[in-house]
Amino acid sequence: MRKKSKLTKTFYVFIPQIITNTMAKERAQNDEEIRIADAVGSKEVLTCGNPEMDKKMGGGIPAGSLTLIEGSSDTGKSVLTQQLMWGGLQQGFSYATYTTENTIKSLLKQMESLSLDVSDYYALGKLKVYPIHIEGMRWANDLPFLDYISAHIKAKSSEIILIDSLTVFVTDASDFDILNFFASCKKLCDAGKTVLITAHTFAFNEEVLTRVRSICDAHLSLKNEEVGGRLVKTLEVAKIRGAQKTTGNVIAFEIEPAFGLRIIPISRTKA
Ligand SMILES: Nc1ncnc2c1ncn2[C@@H]1O[C@H](COP(=O)(O)OP(=O)(O)OP(=O)(O)O)[C@@H](O)[C@H]1O
Ligand SMILES: [Mg+2]
Repeated sequence: MRKKSKLTKTFYVFIPQIITNTMAKERAQNDEEIRIADAVGSKEVLTCGNPEMDKKMGGGIPAGSLTLIEGSSDTGKSVLTQQLMWGGLQQGFSYATYTTENTIKSLLKQMESLSLDVSDYYALGKLKVYPIHIEGMRWANDLPFLDYISAHIKAKSSEIILIDSLTVFVTDASDFDILNFFASCKKLCDAGKTVLITAHTFAFNEEVLTRVRSICDAHLSLKNEEVGGRLVKTLEVAKIRGAQKTTGNVIAFEIEPAFGLRIIPISRTKA
C-alpha cells in the first residue's frame, strides 16, 4: 500500500476539522438568530426592525431600560430614534414621542421619506406624538419643565417613551434637576416603561454626562467620523445592560432617502 504523504495526512486531519468548525459556527449563529427572534417576538427587546443593525446592537435594547442617545448635531440621533420607533411599533409596542424638532405632520412625513411609514400606527393611537415648541417662552430656571415632562409621561399608558431631544430642557437646568429627571425616568423604567432620550453632547457638562451615563442602562454615542478614508456616521454601543452580546461595537452607517439607516461594512470593535 502506498504511504500517505505528509501533505495528504494534513489534508485528512484538517478538512474534517474545518467542516466541523464551520458547522459549529453556523449552529451558533442559528441559535443566536433564534434567541434574538424569540426576544423580539416576546417584546423582551426593542429593535430597529433592521436585522443587521439589531444584531450589531446585541439583539436590541432590553425592554424596561433607560437609554441615552447622545451625539453632536447631524449625527443621526433623530433618524436612529425614528428607526427604533418603526421597529418597536412593528413589534406591537405603544409609543409616546415627545419632539422638540418636529410637528406631528413633519415627523410622519420625514419618516415616510425614509421608508419608515408609521402613519397607520398614529391613526390607530399606537403612536402618540407630542410636539414641544418652546421658542419665545420664558422657561429657564424658574419653570420646572423637566418636572412637567416627567409628570406628563407618568400619566400616559404608552410602553415606550421617546424624547427627541432633551437638549433645550437641560442647557439651562441645574445639574441637580438634570440628574433628578434621569432618576425619575429610571423609576418609570423600573415600573416597566422603556425610555429613550436623545441629547446633544454639549448639553451636559462632563461631570453630569458621566453621572447621567451611569444612571442609564444603555448608552449609544453617535459621531460623524472618517473611517477608511470615508466620511460616515458611527454609532458606538457604549453600553447596553442585559444585552445578549458584549457591547463596545462601533457601527458605521449612512442615511439614505427612501431606505433609512444603511450599515456600511466598515465596523471595528473599540479596543
Ligand atoms: N428624510 C431624510 N432623507 C434623507 N436624509 C435624511 C432624512 N432625514 C435626515 N436625513 C439626514 O440624516 C442626517 C442626520 O439627521 P438627524 O436629524 O437624524 O441628525 P440629528 O443628530 O438628530 O441632528 P440634530 O442634532 O440637528 O437634531 C442629516 O444629514 C440629514 O440630512
Ligand atoms: Mg435631531
